[in-house]
Amino acid sequence: MPMQRWFSWFGGKKTSSEGTLPSVRDIKDLKGKRVLLRASLNAPVEKGKVTETFRLEAALPTLEFLKNQRAKVVVIGHIGREPEESLKPVYEALKEMTDIKWGSKEDSTDLKDGEAILLENLRQDKRESDGDDSLAKELAALADVYVNDAFSDSHREHASIVGVPKYLPGYFGDSFIEEYEQLSKVMDPKHLALFILGGAKFETKMPLVERYAKVYDQVYVAGALANDFFKAKGYEVGESLISDVDLSNSPLLIDSKIMIPGDVVVQDGDEKKEVGSRGVLEGQVIMDIGPNSLKELEGMVMKAKTILWNGPLGNFEKGFSLGTEMLAQTIARSNAHSVVGGGDTIAAIRSLNLQDHFGFMSTAGGAMLVFLETGTLPAIQAVLRD
Ligand code: 3PG
Repeated sequence: MPMQRWFSWFGGKKTSSEGTLPSVRDIKDLKGKRVLLRASLNAPVEKGKVTETFRLEAALPTLEFLKNQRAKVVVIGHIGREPEESLKPVYEALKEMTDIKWGSKEDSTDLKDGEAILLENLRQDKRESDGDDSLAKELAALADVYVNDAFSDSHREHASIVGVPKYLPGYFGDSFIEEYEQLSKVMDPKHLALFILGGAKFETKMPLVERYAKVYDQVYVAGALANDFFKAKGYEVGESLISDVDLSNSPLLIDSKIMIPGDVVVQDGDEKKEVGSRGVLEGQVIMDIGPNSLKELEGMVMKAKTILWNGPLGNFEKGFSLGTEMLAQTIARSNAHSVVGGGDTIAAIRSLNLQDHFGFMSTAGGAMLVFLETGTLPAIQAVLRD
């Protein structure tokens, strides 16, 4: 899909010189300018320490660029969903990577040229998630321009995402623009194109499956999403996780492009068992893709020219990461252009040190899916609005 086509949806306004989104690199005279940088900082934290720095690493190029241009950078972001969660652990990790202060909105007024400060978790203030304009105005008052580099958060209609650009000239950071360009490209893939969708919550992913069953050659539905297909086909799913969606009359069930695992790994009391998808018993819980299905998927991966993958194939939280890791290794060996997203999927790839073997790794999970489905995000519309 040519890039320009998306812009016609919003009136073709405010593109950068290259015809893409307005970029941080287009801002004139950054020296001494106060920049409000909305970054993607929602990193996993265990025992007060960040355990995965992928998103923080992605935030660095824009932050460094702004500091090098002698801007005064006020960095804002969120972590978690509970108001008591703090960005302090993220600050501790970030300051190992770059020079940055920690402080309040008031402290941000004392910044010198070339300095950056990180403010506390925006979600500690309920007005952020409520999309409250009064918070947007308060944040906007801290700066002269707004830069959104938080693609992963940009499907949320929160104050710092859609509110602030009403009050400040808006631009996008390097990471955001790369996400936009890379994901736009795979929406119009080279064939054979394989879309692998794992994770849970079919109700939010159904339109995506419908869309990619038309644009891609094969859509492999795995993870808990596949359980909904098993159930709709009348298979026993035991105690497995299922969504609030009934696929029994859905045309997806008979769509020849859509594939589901023919075997699975189940938890049966304390035991793990490999069984056919039709052979799950009452009381068992489907936890991962089975070995035969992985083999089948390997064949599809090796033939594909484009692979788009979001979401794990098994229940990561309970330690069923084997299927996801095996698939990561297979894709890493393939010659396809591969684009991957979702926190667990990225964590698996990085834990195996395979990141250099993937075409593009998205910092986003849910936002990637919204973008792939709609070709835009609330944040993009907010910045490009008239
Ligand atoms: C994410 O991790 O997907 C983003 O940071 C958005 O977080 P949220 O789902 O809590 O809004």
